[in-house]
Amino acid sequence: MGEAMTVKITVKPDSNYRVEGDFILLKPDGTEIPHQGQTASLCRCGHSKTKPFCDATHREMGFKSSE
Ligand code: FES
Repeated sequence: MGEAMTVKITVKPDSNYRVEGDFILLKPDGTEIPHQGQTASLCRCGHSKTKPFCDATHREMGFKSSE
């Protein structure tokens, strides 16, 4: 059995999901989505042009989180 991965996911207010740790991102077909280093900001607002990554469009859209 492999070692458990520790991943930290931060829900940023009115912003994205910040993922930190040793993780892989997969497309629905199971292929890997490359990312740099051990961090990624994932779009939460649905308006990014670089999904699944955040491109800061949430600021232009005035995205407001519910929490
Ligand atoms: S959360 Fe940043 S572009 Fe969607």
